[in-house]
Amino acid sequence: MRQFTEDTLTDAVVARLKKTKNPRLRQIMSAAVKHLHAFSRDVQLTEEEWFEGIKFLTAVGQKCDDKRQEFILLSDVLGLSMMIVALNHKTAPGATEATVLGPFYAHGAKEYESGADLREGCTLKGEDVWVSGRVTSVDGMPIPGAMLDIWQTKADGIYDLQTDGEFELRGRVKANAKGEYAFKSYKPKFYSIPVDGPVGDLVRATGNHHMRPAHMHAIVSAPGYQQVISHVFVEGDPYLDDDAVFAVKNSLIANYKKLADADAKKLGLPAGSLRLDFNFKLSADKAGAKKARQKITASDTVA
Ligand code: BEZ
Ligand code: FE
Repeated sequence: MRQFTEDTLTDAVVARLKKTKNPRLRQIMSAAVKHLHAFSRDVQLTEEEWFEGIKFLTAVGQKCDDKRQEFILLSDVLGLSMMIVALNHKTAPGATEATVLGPFYAHGAKEYESGADLREGCTLKGEDVWVSGRVTSVDGMPIPGAMLDIWQTKADGIYDLQTDGEFELRGRVKANAKGEYAFKSYKPKFYSIPVDGPVGDLVRATGNHHMRPAHMHAIVSAPGYQQVISHVFVEGDPYLDDDAVFAVKNSLIANYKKLADADAKKLGLPAGSLRLDFNFKLSADKAGAKKARQKITASDTVA
């Protein structure tokens, strides 16, 4: 086969993939070739434009190192990360919705019991907040010992990993025997995604901003349940409607209310502190969760 034209080239390339042993790789590569060829025809891509594209992708690769993943950031601002989340996390109705992981998750954060102080070691102060709630199944069964892996920016909108790498406002908090969790933290703030690389140039070239609404990240997991990678957003944040990475879900927006001064005192927090109440609901995993758990009653209140 030779002498391909604009009309025959795509089929020829796809035919050459037919010998690919792994059927899933064959499917993915065939679809990628078809869509890439269709895209170039659709916009009648010039050689100069394609070379600009190559230069851009090269710069994205060169910006990556063990701390910076510019390709993930590119996937985030193109909405591809949230598309993959939507395709892969069709949670049961009522379950906590999933969002992007983002580039600032770190393995190995310190483990805390419920009631911990995640502000410890944090040099920059913020608005104190008592975060608490329950982890339950979608039908309200408490999940004792559920683990919440928490991370967020400091009060200046910068993550610990973006500075000296010392963990701050980050920890693995274990729910108690009633599935209740609580910890002290600071109220998160809106922030800019990293824009000192080619993805930042692209965002600016498209006339968009590069801000994310304030949020706390949480990965919530427990044996027998599907892990959820999620955020809790701050009600009233100015960027909720145009998050740079399209990750906002209405069910994940929560109100930071004033904590009664008497409660703040009991908890060792200053007067004027805030409280955030947020319950996480997990879907049973494919094997099915153990159902032999006590139903939550109204008297099971969280401190
Ligand atoms: C984040 O929430 O940490 C994040 C997500 C996507 C891109 C940049 C930051
Ligand atoms: Fe974040």
